[in-house]
Parts: sequence; C-alpha cells; structure tokens
Amino acid sequence: MGVSHMCISVLAELQLDSLEDILFLMCLHCGDVISFGHVVWDGASLILACRNVKKGLDAKAEILQKVQNYNGQIFVKHLDLCSIPNIVKFTENIKSEFKEIFALVNCAGVFYHPQGLTEDGFEITLQTNYLGPFILTHHLLGLLQNSVHARIINVSSEAHRNVNIYDLKAITKCQTEFRSHFIAYGVSKLALILFTKELAKKLTNTNVLVNAVNPGNVETPIYRHFPPLSNPWFYAAQWPIRIVGVKSPKQGCQTLLHALLTSNRSTGQYYSDCKSCLPSPIAGNDKIAAEYYNLTLEVLADWLNTESEC
Ligand SMILES: NC(=O)c1ccc[n+]([C@@H]2O[C@H](COP(=O)([O-])OP(=O)(O)OC[C@H]3O[C@@H](n4cnc5c(N)ncnc54)[C@H](OP(=O)(O)O)[C@@H]3O)[C@@H](O)[C@H]2O)c1
Repeated sequence: MGVSHMCISVLAELQLDSLEDILFLMCLHCGDVISFGHVVWDGASLILACRNVKKGLDAKAEILQKVQNYNGQIFVKHLDLCSIPNIVKFTENIKSEFKEIFALVNCAGVFYHPQGLTEDGFEITLQTNYLGPFILTHHLLGLLQNSVHARIINVSSEAHRNVNIYDLKAITKCQTEFRSHFIAYGVSKLALILFTKELAKKLTNTNVLVNAVNPGNVETPIYRHFPPLSNPWFYAAQWPIRIVGVKSPKQGCQTLLHALLTSNRSTGQYYSDCKSCLPSPIAGNDKIAAEYYNLTLEVLADWLNTESEC
C-alpha cells in the first residue's frame, strides 16, 4: 500500500478533510525520515524526539528539502531515554505545548551496546529500548487519549525469539548483567511485545491502538557496536550479501508506516512485512504479559504516578 493511500485511510478514520491538526511524535530513528515526511506533508505536524538535537535538526532540514509543499510543522525536541528525569521533563514539556497526539512511535533503540548502568541504575539496553519507552508512553497516555483516534507503535525485532523465560526475569535483579549483549537486546525487544500486548488489553474500549512492529534487517547505523559490522573491512566484505539480503531504510520503515496508517483497527498485534504475524510463544503468552507489566510497574514505581498508569 502506498503512503498516500495510507494517508487516505487515516483521514477516513479520523473523519478529517486533511491531516492538519494531527500530531505524530516519533523517537528517531527508524529508517527513512523522508518517508515520514511524505506521510505528514498534508498538514500534520511531527515531533522528532532525539538524544542528539543536531541530528534531529538535520532530519528536519532533510524532510523540508525533499518533501515538496510540506505544510505541517516539525518540532525537534531533546529526549534521552537513558535518563528518567529527562523523559519526565520531556513529557511535561510536550503536555504544556500540545493538547493531543495522534501517534507515538517508539523507535529509538540500541543494539549490542556495551553493558553498563544508566544514571537511574538500569542496564543501558533495557532502559533505552524498553523501560524508557514504557515510562514515556505512560506519561503521554493522556494526550493520546485526547485524540479522536490514536496509535502507539513499539518497534521490536525478530531478536525477541532468542530469549528464554529466565533471561526475561533478569529485570528483577536490578538490571545488572545479561548473558550477552545480544540477549540484552532480545530481552528488551521481547519486553516491548509483552508491553504492547498488555497495554492493548488495558486500553480496550479506548481510542488508542497499540501494536509492535519488526522492521526487518535494515541498513542503518544500529550495528555501530556490533563487531562483525562496525569494522569497515568486515563490513565491506559483507557488502555484496547485504545489498541483496538487507532492506534499504525506505523499505525498512514500510511495516511501521503500515501499522501507523492502516485502516485495520486491530490492537496488541505484532507486524512484520506489513502483516500481522505470530511472535514467539513467550511473547504471545497473556499470563506472562500481565505479570511482566506488573513487574515493570513495580520496578518503575518511583517514576510512575497513579495518574499516568492505566
Ligand atoms: N536496523 C535494523 O536492522 C533493525 C532490525 C530490527 C529492529 N530494529 C529496531 O529499529 C529501531 C530503530 O533502529 P534503526 O535501525 O533506525 O537504528 P539507528 O539509526 O541507530 O536509530 C536508533 C535511534 O535511537 C536513538 N537513541 C539511542 N539511544 C537513545 C537514547 N538514550 N535516547 C534517545 N534516543 C536514543 C539514536 O540516537 P543517536 O542518533 O543519538 O544515536 C538513533 O536516532 C530500533 O528500536 C531497533 O532496535 C532495527
């Protein structure tokens, strides 16, 4: 489905003549910002939430340069998911400036990051990819619920399949160490799918849909910490294979755009290649999802007030 076609389904759902007055909040970066620019060109606005504001401003300039007749506004805001006080400050700022949000796209993430603790005492990959988006989402639920219809998209990965139930429980150990960098990533991505599933249940009978997506294997800087790809010589040697087997950034954001803009109103789903598919048995387990959600609330209790919980 092309982007303009998808915009039409959003307009129909929102019963609006144009996308004007709707707001997408996207935590950089998932592939191709230009594709997002095309989605919002019809008047919708976009908040680019990024750790490195310079990169956000560059992305904004790129969209304005490449997307003709861009009518919406683009806001660039600082957000560091490795700092919970910063996340809370960010959401306070958003709440003071905007009345509603149509879509929250949780796509910031790290892969194979050296293990260590954030200033809040959680493992870096777990906080960046899961705990941070969990808090961010809860603090923005009010604004999402103010929109006629709203969507939350959590960007996950097929790496969630490599995790067993014991790895998952490492969250209770005050996030010291996982078996490997790869397992740390898998846990964070499995946690995001479980979160998606449970939050979708909690938001039943509201205007908010929440889904997880797997973008596939995409050519982006996400592999900067992964030894086989961070070394330029190894990378060059693999280039002929990668050019065939790895998606371009534009291809990589299609499943996300599909989940964001499809007229299908399913919620709690895991999308891959622009269709809903089954995640791993652990990720599909309702009981584990509910338990993990409650465990996360306990772990983050100091930063989640009752108003932001659901
Ligand atoms: N590329 C793939 O093959 C692939 C496959 C499956 C899933 N994914 C998922 O897709 C999502 C997007 O990844 P990508 O491929 O687009 O990689 P990317 O280009 O490296 O984008 C990741 C983004 O996350 C941001 N980020 C990292 N730590 C942050 C923090 N503490 N606070 C705020 N932002 C932070 C990065 O900011 P900086 O620019 O400041 O570093 C960067 O903009 C990730 O969740 C990733 O796990 C990617």
